[in-house]
Amino acid sequence: MSSDRDIKTTPRGFHCTLCNANMPNMPSLDQHLKGRKHQTLSTVRSTRKTQEEHSVFVSGIRPDISQTDIAEYFQKFGTVSDVIMDKDKGVFAIVQFSETESIEAVLSCVEHKMKDLKLRVKPREKKEFKLNPKKNDPQNLQQVLDRLKPGLCQLASVDAQMRYIVERFQLGENEKKARSLFIQLLQEVFVEFFPDSQILPFGSSVNTFGIHSCDLDLFLDLENTKVFQARAKTTGDQASEGMSDDGHSEDSILSDIDLSTASPTEVLDLVATILKRCVPSVHKVHVVGTARLPVVKFHHKELNLHGDITINNRLAVKNTHFLQLCSGMEDRLRPLVYTIRYWAKQKQLAGNPSGAGPLLNNYALTLLILFFLQNCEPPVLLTVDQLKDMACEEEECVIEGWNCTFPSQPIALPPSKNTQDLCSLLAGFFSFYAKFDFASSVISPREGRSLPVINFLSQKKEDEAVKEEQAIKTPHSHPKLGPLNLLDPFELTHNVAGNLNERCQRSFQRECQEAEKYCRSLQYQRKSTKGKSWGLMRLFTPHGEVSHSKPEQLTISIPFKSASLPEALRNELHMAGDGFRLLWFQRVCSAVEGVLKAVLKCELLATTDTILGEHSSDAAEEMEASSASFNSSINDDLDSCKSQNQTSPLGPVVGAKRPLSSGSDTSVSPQSKKPRVAKRGKPEFPPWICVQKHMVWAGRRKVRRELIKDTDSRPEGSCMELESRVTAYIIEKEPELKEPLKFKVQPQMVGETESTKTVLTLEPSNVEPGTFHDYFHFLEGFLPKMVETMLEKEVCST
Ligand code: UTP
Repeated sequence: MSSDRDIKTTPRGFHCTLCNANMPNMPSLDQHLKGRKHQTLSTVRSTRKTQEEHSVFVSGIRPDISQTDIAEYFQKFGTVSDVIMDKDKGVFAIVQFSETESIEAVLSCVEHKMKDLKLRVKPREKKEFKLNPKKNDPQNLQQVLDRLKPGLCQLASVDAQMRYIVERFQLGENEKKARSLFIQLLQEVFVEFFPDSQILPFGSSVNTFGIHSCDLDLFLDLENTKVFQARAKTTGDQASEGMSDDGHSEDSILSDIDLSTASPTEVLDLVATILKRCVPSVHKVHVVGTARLPVVKFHHKELNLHGDITINNRLAVKNTHFLQLCSGMEDRLRPLVYTIRYWAKQKQLAGNPSGAGPLLNNYALTLLILFFLQNCEPPVLLTVDQLKDMACEEEECVIEGWNCTFPSQPIALPPSKNTQDLCSLLAGFFSFYAKFDFASSVISPREGRSLPVINFLSQKKEDEAVKEEQAIKTPHSHPKLGPLNLLDPFELTHNVAGNLNERCQRSFQRECQEAEKYCRSLQYQRKSTKGKSWGLMRLFTPHGEVSHSKPEQLTISIPFKSASLPEALRNELHMAGDGFRLLWFQRVCSAVEGVLKAVLKCELLATTDTILGEHSSDAAEEMEASSASFNSSINDDLDSCKSQNQTSPLGPVVGAKRPLSSGSDTSVSPQSKKPRVAKRGKPEFPPWICVQKHMVWAGRRKVRRELIKDTDSRPEGSCMELESRVTAYIIEKEPELKEPLKFKVQPQMVGETESTKTVLTLEPSNVEPGTFHDYFHFLEGFLPKMVETMLEKEVCST
C-alpha cells in the first residue's frame, strides 16, 4: 500500500512525505512504515484513489433532490454503490459506481436530464492525497508569515510594522457584529429556560486583543435565576411567571434541577441540551467537566466559531474589563500584545491546542506584558493596587472574596511619563524576561513587583497547619507553584501559568534571549534597502526553522518533592538539618546511576578511569578508541577530573582501572562523597561518561505490554524489575546500534532550599543528532519517574 515515493532521504535521515514525519535511521524508518499512522494513511489514500476512479461529479441539482432520486437516475449506467451529497451547499453530488466501465458510459452521454433539471456530469478531479497540515506545523506557520512579508517589509519602521500586525489580525467590525448578534440570540434562548439569567462575553472577543476566528468565551450568570428559583420555591407561586397554556412552564427545565445544590456538570449538561436543541447552526456540543472550570464547548457552523460556556467565571468577566481599561489607558499596549502574541505563537510558546496543555495561555502572556510595562523606567502602566486606590466608591467591587476594584473608565487617569517607542518597548520586553529569575520569583501584577517564592512556601506550610488544626478543607489557599509563577491580578491564589512545565518555561526564556540578541542588531531596527527581511519579519521565524547559534542545552530536571518521598527518607533528610539538600542530591545521583546502569543497561565509565588507567572492558576500550572524537568540552572535563584526582560521580576513581559499567558492583554509594563546587558555584559531581549500545528507548511500551499481559498493567517507570526486563528483552531481540550513543551526563544541584532540584545536563559526542534527540526525549520522561521509584525502593530495602 505504501510506496517508496513516500520516503525521501535527507541529510538527517529519512522523511515520510505521506505522514510528514522525520526518521533518523533505518530501524526507525522500518518501525514507522509498520506503524499505525503510516498504515492508516496508506489505506485511506488507496481507498480515496479507488473512489476517485469509480465516481463522477454531478452538479446542477437542487436541495430538494434526494440521494435516492440521483441513485435511481444513474442506475441505468451501471450499479451505483454510493451517492454523497453536499446538501448544505445544495448543489452537487458525487456518484460512485461499482465498476469503472460505468464511468465511461456516464461521461459519453451528451445530456443528463433528471426531473426538470439539466445535470452537468464531470470526471472527478485527481487530487494529490495530502495530510492536512497542523495549525502549529512550522511549515504552515511559515506560509502564513510569507503572506505577511510584502506588507511588513515595505513599511518604514518597526513601530509601523507593529501597528500593521494589529490591523491584519484584529477582529473586524462585521465579525464583532456577528458575535454580538449571536450572543443576543443565546440570551433570548437561555432566558426562556433560566429566568433572569445573563450571558456575558469575556476573553479575546471583547478584551480588545481578539484576532480573526478567536474563540468566543461566555459566562452564563445564573445568580438571579437562583434567586428566582428560591422565591418560586418559598411562595409556591410558579404560575406567576413563565407558565404556558399546556401546563408546562417555560422554565420547566428548572423544575428538574435545584440550582442551589446541583453540581456544575449537571447544570452544564442542561446548558448543552439547550444549545443542541434550541440554537440553530450550533453543533459539536459537549461538556468538559474535568477542566479547572468546567465548560460546554460548541461550534457555530455558519460563523465558523468555536465557543465555550462556563457558569462560574464571574472573575473572568471582571479581568476582561480590566484588560479593556489597560488598553484604553495606554495605546501602545495593543500593538505590543498583538506582536508578542504572534511571536509566541510562531515560537510555539503560547496557545494550547484545545485549551489544555503545558504552554502559556494568551491571558498569562498578556499579564506578563502588563507586568513588564509596570516595571519599565518610568513605568508605562500603573499597578493594580495603584488603580484600586484611584477608583471611586461606586466602583468598589468584591468577587468571591477578591478585591476587584479599579476605575471603570480610563479618562481620569494620568498619562505615563514613559515616552519610549514601540520598537524599544518590544526589545525591552525580551530583555526583561531574558534575564528574569523565574526560579525564585512570583510575579505579581497586583503589586507590580516580583515577590520571593520563599514567602509562598512558608505561607503554604502555615495554611496547611491551619487546615490540619481546624480539620477543614479550603480550596486553594495558596498558588500552585511551578517553573513560572504568575499571579492573577485579582484571584491572588491562582498561578495563571501553573500549567507550564519546566521545558516550556525554559523555551520561553531561551526564545526571549534569542529575540533580545536579534533586537540589538541593525536588521531589527533598520529597514533593508535591498528588500531583505528586516524588523519583525525575522523575529517571527517559526520555531524549528531557525538554526540557533548556540546548540540547545539538553537538560533533565528532577525537582525535590518532599511529599512524594517515602517517609523513611523524609526522616533521614530531616535529621540531616541544613545538609538535607546535599544528602538528597547524593541519593538522586545514586538513583540516576542505578537507572542508567541497571535499568537501561548503559555502560558508565568513570571519567578519570578513561584517562588514568588501562581499560579492562570492551566499553572502556571503545571509549578510549573514540575519545579523540569526543568534543572538546568533554575532554576539558576529563582533564579537570584528572588534575583534581576527583571521584567518579558516585565512586572512588583514584587510579582505578574499572569502568562503572553494568555488573560492576564496586561503585560506592555517593553518600560518603562530597560533591565539588563547580565554577558556577553550584554543587555538582563529576560527570558520567555513558555508552548506550542498543535502542532501549524504542518500542518499550509494546514490550512492556507483552511482558505483563497476564498481570495488572503498570505505568512506565513504576517498577524497576519490569523496566529492567523490558530493556533486557530489547537488547536480546534487537541488533546493536551501528554506532553506540556516547554522551556525558553532568549532574548538578541548583535552586534554593525549597526549590532544590537536580539538573542533569546531557552532552552527546559525535553521534547522529536525530538519534540522540530521540533518546534524550525518552530519558526526559523516563528518568525522573524511575528515580522516584528507585528512591522508594532503596529506602524500602534498607
Ligand atoms: P485565554 O487565555 O483564552 O485568553 O483566556 P484570550 O485573550 O481569550 O485569548 P484566546 O481566546 O486564546 O484568543 C480567556 C479568558 O479567560 C480568563 C480571562 O478572562 C481570559 O481573558 N482566564 C483565563 C482567567 O480568568 N484565568 C486564567 O488563568 C485564564
